[in-house]
Amino acid sequence: MPRLSVNVDHVATLREARKVKEPDPAAAALLAELGGAEGITIHLRRDRRHIQPRDLDLLRMMIHTKLNLEMGTSEEIVKIALKTKPDLATLVPEKETEITTEGGLDLSQEDPRLKEVISLLHQMEIPVSLFINPTPNSVRKAHKLGANVVELHTGPYAEATSFLDSATELERIAGAAALAKKLDLEVHAGHGLNYQNARKICLIEEIEEVSIGHSIVARACLVGMKEAVREMVRLVGR
Ligand code: PXP
Repeated sequence: MPRLSVNVDHVATLREARKVKEPDPAAAALLAELGGAEGITIHLRRDRRHIQPRDLDLLRMMIHTKLNLEMGTSEEIVKIALKTKPDLATLVPEKETEITTEGGLDLSQEDPRLKEVISLLHQMEIPVSLFINPTPNSVRKAHKLGANVVELHTGPYAEATSFLDSATELERIAGAAALAKKLDLEVHAGHGLNYQNARKICLIEEIEEVSIGHSIVARACLVGMKEAVREMVRLVGR
């Protein structure tokens, strides 16, 4: 069964909605580790909509498992990554207008910047994962680019509305995972995985890690609500 890396971006999203100090994604990450997470994932976006550089610095110092930094290829972010040295750098496409990462990297055209960033990260001995759509072509291109890991995009699987579409997407992911493993790439998967759909992905033998964020943070808000209200009721004195 794969390892779970917990993405704490949306804890920061809640904090940034008020521009205050809480909830702190660093505290959430430590609790995630206590709960059994084997890794913590964050995405430091150019627009800083959730995770801030301070979070990255704190997490680098505090967590006991592995830090996976999702990142674009802008000069500024690459500089930060090279300085912080995460345990894994996952390169993702990044658009300012998107609500969340919309798709895997487009590897259909040569991208000299992508090649350069992979090489810079490797020079600092930072393993590189490429977030890709689960197609044989993308897997082959990722391998050619020298990636150590591919993270297969599970969004279309998660969003499938019929059993048939879901089964088709699952098969695509399983096929891409098998090919990646054959090419000696470590295989991760993520995006849109939740308490209903994650299990089938985790049964794909080649997948060694899943990265899950939104559904865990959403569940934490609900399962923690009763206790949070009890504490406040005690405090207000009734
Ligand atoms: N993997 C990648 C590359 C992502 O960009 C995201 C979203 O930040 C995730 C996994 C986690 O997705 P979700 O929040 O839907 O679980």
